[in-house]
Amino acid sequence: MAKPHSDPHVTTRLIGPFAQLVTLEGLPLKGSLSDKQLIVQQAAGIRVRGSEIIETGPFERLAKAARADKTEIAELPAGSVGIPGFVDAHTHSCFAGSRAKDYALRNSGSSYLEIAKAGGGIWDSVQQTRKASPEILEALLLKRIRRFLAAGITTLEVKSGYGLSVSEELKMLRVIRSASEKTDMDLVSTCLAAHTCPKDFQGNAQEYLQLLETELLPVLAAEGLTSRLDAFVEQSAFTPREILPYLRKGKAMGFHLTLHADQFTAGGSAVAISCGALSADHLEASGPSEIQALAKSEVIATALPGASLGLGCGFTPSRALLDAGACLAIASDYNPGSAPMGDLLTQAALLGTFEKLSNAEVLAGITFRAAAALALKDRGRLVAGHKADIAIFQTDHYNEILYHQGQLRPFQVVKNGRLYLSKNDSHDF
Ligand code: NIG
Ligand code: FE
Repeated sequence: MAKPHSDPHVTTRLIGPFAQLVTLEGLPLKGSLSDKQLIVQQAAGIRVRGSEIIETGPFERLAKAARADKTEIAELPAGSVGIPGFVDAHTHSCFAGSRAKDYALRNSGSSYLEIAKAGGGIWDSVQQTRKASPEILEALLLKRIRRFLAAGITTLEVKSGYGLSVSEELKMLRVIRSASEKTDMDLVSTCLAAHTCPKDFQGNAQEYLQLLETELLPVLAAEGLTSRLDAFVEQSAFTPREILPYLRKGKAMGFHLTLHADQFTAGGSAVAISCGALSADHLEASGPSEIQALAKSEVIATALPGASLGLGCGFTPSRALLDAGACLAIASDYNPGSAPMGDLLTQAALLGTFEKLSNAEVLAGITFRAAAALALKDRGRLVAGHKADIAIFQTDHYNEILYHQGQLRPFQVVKNGRLYLSKNDSHDF
């Protein structure tokens, strides 16, 4: 929470000059966008107080005022382009172990679902994550968070879902909370206990979901561990009929909902719409009727190009979703199985190339539209009152950022109003 104006301990600083500041101001939440709609401020500065943006404007004017009242100036080198810090609204960054074996098997011809049926897949990561102590899991998560921050991501959603028992899901969510206390990254946790029916329940999905309702959800609420529930709606995980009572119960308890939907077969997006979910994620298998229905609804369609690249399958029909009027967010889905790359900027740039998205649509998808998928209204644009989270690139034009398809990394990241990286850190993976 931003401290009041008069608090003497809150630092005010001016950051700049920016050759270009792409503010994303005024762009609508839903529908297609053209690059002509982008507001680009030239020779601009951003005045921040604490972690909040106070104003943006011509750097010279702001610098004059700053010098007069002795406000600190965080000076940037010539040729700095600023865009809002990225929001990665769908990741499974808390896990132990590797699924490199699955990747090799898939590339040799086995399908994701065949591997899962043969005991690999999600269940393999569950075994490895259950074996890991909370300390190990937290260290792994914090290392990944540092990599994400260096890549310009300033808000990161992290799911549980590799515990798949009451105690192991709680272990994961407590690890995510503990990690969030040790990093500048804003972490948003989501309970994905309904990732798949655990083998311990021998296919009795109903019994497992009932247990979650009675034994897990009340603890999540009591400990304030998360305000979000996710589920994987798919023949191989939970069918719409199986999952609906669980989602309704969660909603009634006040949780926000999000779903893994229409990944291999359509069906999940209709569930997301019927229960008023914040977002429906994946949607690679969405057809014209699902696209129309999503566009008419308030559900945010989240494309996960990292899963398409990891599995070698088609991308979410992002162009069609935007043209129909949907809100399109783009997230990395970073996970050890289907999306091991974990590089949002690269993936968003590639999605733009294959789906013919404007730069404005791609940038909106990883900033304010992604923030909306997390119900966060205070970030994703460089405007007064928003969080001072900024990804800064050394280049003379913002078009260069997506053009380099993820290879142009941020030179500097501002998180909560403070310069976060030294130049060398940006390569510290
Ligand atoms: O988003 N589709 C289901 N869940 C994850 C994959 C998780 C895994 O394979 O470990 C996804 O792709
Ligand atoms: Fe996922």
